[in-house]
Amino acid sequence: MPLEAHGLGNQPLIEGLKQLAPEVIKDGKIDFELLRELFGDQTLDDEEKAEPWGLNWTGKSQARKLAMARTKGTLRPLVGEGVNEASSQNLFIQGDNLEVLKTLQKSYLGKIKMIYIDPPYNTGNDFVYEDDFRDNLSHYIDKAGKNLHSNKKDSGRFHATWLNFMYPRLKIAKSLLKDDGAIFVSIDDHEVHNLRALMNEIFGEENFMGILLWKRRQNADNRNQSNVSSDHEYLLLYSKSENTKFLGKSIDLSKYKNPDNDPRGPWASIDLSGLATKDQRPNLHYDIVDPKTNLSYPPNPNRGWSKSKENVLKMIEEGRILFPKKVTGRPREKKFLSNLNQTVTGFSTWLESDNVGFTTNGTRDIAEVMGGKIFNFPKPVKLIQTLIKQATTSQDIILDFFAGSATTAQAVTELNKEDGGNRKFILVQLEEETPPKSEARKAGYEHIAQISKDRIRKVIEKIQTEQNSLEAEVMQLEDDLQMLKNEKDQLVAEQNIDLTLFDNDANATKPKALQKLEDKLAQQSTAIEDCRQKIAHIAQTDLGFKAFQLAQSNFKEWQAPQGTPDAQQLGLAFEEAADTRLEASFSKENIIAEILLQKGFTLDLPTMHAAQFDKNTVWQVTDPASGKGVLVCLDEQMHPNTAQQLRQVVEHTFICRGEAISDQIKLQFSDAGLIETI
Ligand SMILES: C[S@@+](CC[C@H](N)C(=O)[O-])C[C@H]1O[C@@H](n2cnc3c(N)ncnc32)[C@H](O)[C@@H]1O
Repeated sequence: MPLEAHGLGNQPLIEGLKQLAPEVIKDGKIDFELLRELFGDQTLDDEEKAEPWGLNWTGKSQARKLAMARTKGTLRPLVGEGVNEASSQNLFIQGDNLEVLKTLQKSYLGKIKMIYIDPPYNTGNDFVYEDDFRDNLSHYIDKAGKNLHSNKKDSGRFHATWLNFMYPRLKIAKSLLKDDGAIFVSIDDHEVHNLRALMNEIFGEENFMGILLWKRRQNADNRNQSNVSSDHEYLLLYSKSENTKFLGKSIDLSKYKNPDNDPRGPWASIDLSGLATKDQRPNLHYDIVDPKTNLSYPPNPNRGWSKSKENVLKMIEEGRILFPKKVTGRPREKKFLSNLNQTVTGFSTWLESDNVGFTTNGTRDIAEVMGGKIFNFPKPVKLIQTLIKQATTSQDIILDFFAGSATTAQAVTELNKEDGGNRKFILVQLEEETPPKSEARKAGYEHIAQISKDRIRKVIEKIQTEQNSLEAEVMQLEDDLQMLKNEKDQLVAEQNIDLTLFDNDANATKPKALQKLEDKLAQQSTAIEDCRQKIAHIAQTDLGFKAFQLAQSNFKEWQAPQGTPDAQQLGLAFEEAADTRLEASFSKENIIAEILLQKGFTLDLPTMHAAQFDKNTVWQVTDPASGKGVLVCLDEQMHPNTAQQLRQVVEHTFICRGEAISDQIKLQFSDAGLIETI
């Protein structure tokens, strides 16, 4: 199997071009002359080339190359660090997010519905991760999470450093989004302008959906010498394409009622005043006359009416104008629910902090779960939930690759618990060291990824405890219900009440004591139903996660012989490479995870023992959506029976060690594309 690593590469570009202008791609390469001809006048003239419009900064072309560079990394399962690892579809990955995003690229291309990120804001006091353009993976591994440096305002490349960091990450993130997906990026005044320009470039101006405003602090900040308190943050919101649609905000339909039993159904009384003066809209300034009373109602001189005279006359005929009972009143529109074009209105870019919370709520949320101030300024759970509700439906995947304290995992899990959804999360977090004297360090957390994992575990424990107490509550409520039923039976017997009387005659009055008991019984049944529904939602919720770590590939890299090798030395090197390429310390879990990523299967798929192979140990992973999968055998020798049994599972690729099979079998099966060797 060729050792394939991921990164953006230029393949997506070539594929895109191939779709739009196939004549431009010749033998896998681009004919730029022809491409230029096709674009005619739309190419840049000399002046535009010399001074191009757009966001530029020092290092931009390097950042572009970094996005395209393939990673040599893979993801190694941290077995035992997750919860319900075998079945969970949630992923937590620790490591530098750029390399991690690259490892996910093949498997999650176009599969993520929503991305939320909360990157460093570049305040001058925070840390920015240092990429290494030569070998970013080794750089990460050598530094073991200490690749952060404080980006000071006087560094000379203050904004450029931050943009170089953000560019490749956002570029790859875009490729992971579904066609109808959306990305939210939290930011404050330090970089909002640059981030907007950067995202315009990466996602396209046409995909800008809005800037959400979030008031993060309740009380003014008195530290500012200018006496201006910056109380808010932004969330930049971009779609992947024009197909992205939010849930929107439901219109309040409670005012639609039908007190007069109108056969046209429920209606609401709506103000008929307009918004224009007589000078502005003379046709909206006229008297409305009630045909029954002949009373005349003049318009408000500053506003007029909202509809023309012709329209209102028609509406009077159709009984769609409500005339006032008192002369001092105003005519109003009788608006029918059935005439509403839609029952939702737009999701406001103004986030109401009373609903979504302030920073203090984020701090409280984590303290409730972890018992202390373990992480500075986490986002409120409700804020993230509000975004998730808008941008996803119940089966979607949500990615947060600046996970911090894992607020997003809590938001997803608790939302699923509330509404019975099956959204999944993928979180990525660097092993950023906790400050030596911090509460986190005192509590035993050496790096932030440990905090994130622990928060997810604790959220799961909290929900499990809730499940146990709900089950106990249902039992108690059922006992109480039985007691009430007994009480009712006793009452009926003692007072000789004929219950059939009330079944047959809805107007028959029940004895007060009986009515009271029946009300209590109904209340009790509703409470039991509520509890049962909550238990059912918890049972449906994925209370788990699989944990992974960014790591070097499990496959040895091809080492070319030193110097100028002769044919014999080269031959020897090839022979060695054809033998096992597995690193000596390999484990089944590690290899399977790497194979899944290389073959483009998602990491949530369960690994099963393929029992039909009785002479070798074979592991099977199948994608239920396509029915395709892989069979992995890591034994040193493949039994001839295994080769025969292989013919039964043609939709799976069989992967085994190079030295485990004879050349003859290799030839027989590789032609059919059934066997690949590692
Ligand atoms: C502002 S915090 C996110 C807080 C999070 N929203 C919460 O509610 O807890 C940003 C996080 O990104 C992490 N980070 C920074 N650079 C990273 C990188 N290259 N890869 C992965 N994580 C990174 C930092 O360690 C930090 O924990």
